[in-house]
Amino acid sequence: MNSPIGILDSGLGGLSVLNEVRQVLPNESIVYFGDSAWCPYGVREAHEIQRRVFEITDFLIEKECKLIIVACNSATIAAVEALRATYPLPFVGMEPGVKPAAALTKTGTVGVLATEASLAGKKFHRLVSNHADGIKVITRPCPNFVNLVEAGELSGARARGIVEEETLPLIEDGADVLVLGCTHYPFLRPLIEDVAGAHISIIDTGTAVAKQAASMLPSNSGSASPHFQIHTSGDLDHLRDVLPKLCPDLTADLYHCDLT
Ligand code: DGL
Repeated sequence: MNSPIGILDSGLGGLSVLNEVRQVLPNESIVYFGDSAWCPYGVREAHEIQRRVFEITDFLIEKECKLIIVACNSATIAAVEALRATYPLPFVGMEPGVKPAAALTKTGTVGVLATEASLAGKKFHRLVSNHADGIKVITRPCPNFVNLVEAGELSGARARGIVEEETLPLIEDGADVLVLGCTHYPFLRPLIEDVAGAHISIIDTGTAVAKQAASMLPSNSGSASPHFQIHTSGDLDHLRDVLPKLCPDLTADLYHCDLT
């Protein structure tokens, strides 16, 4: 069974999940859709995100995807339940790693970096009350992180300044664990680790999501020569420039697609 896995995100952030999927499932072909023309999702209304995610899902189903990873926390919160109720194929969604963070903290304070859309949802509040009872959870939306990653600006003085501005207040407030609750943020992880220092733990659920996808596929799934397609609703030349920074060892066919 050689149909591809579909992966979608508001833009290029879900490529951090694609990288994890390639580690865990090296034989799987992947069709990725990055909605860079509509990025950021994190400041949009849930119904607007949901409508867009349904259109992308129709596109991925046309490409014969057998499973779809909603590699965007904001889109997961807005749409994953509706997707599961509508389509017959399996969906894997994202969830900020509040549970492992609560188990790891020694100070009793964790910082969650995520988009406004992810932090405002009922789902996030449920996550905190189910798994971080008695833990102080400080949240912080970082739209500038998304902008940096979309621009492929992963290092340098400006990026470092932005990372300092967003992460240091959480650490000053006592957080010893930082949760990366948006799929764009792992691309800034080296900078975040450097700014935060070795005493701060960083949690990213990308690997767990890839393993969850693997557990939903039959053991003979995939092929010896997987292929990769990346579709963007944004600028194709920009994707061509930025991709080597985000996925250094990936050879993929790149396309522009408006979905209309
Ligand atoms: N990558 C998306 C997420 O995980 C968010 C970025 C955006 O705001 O579009 O939530």
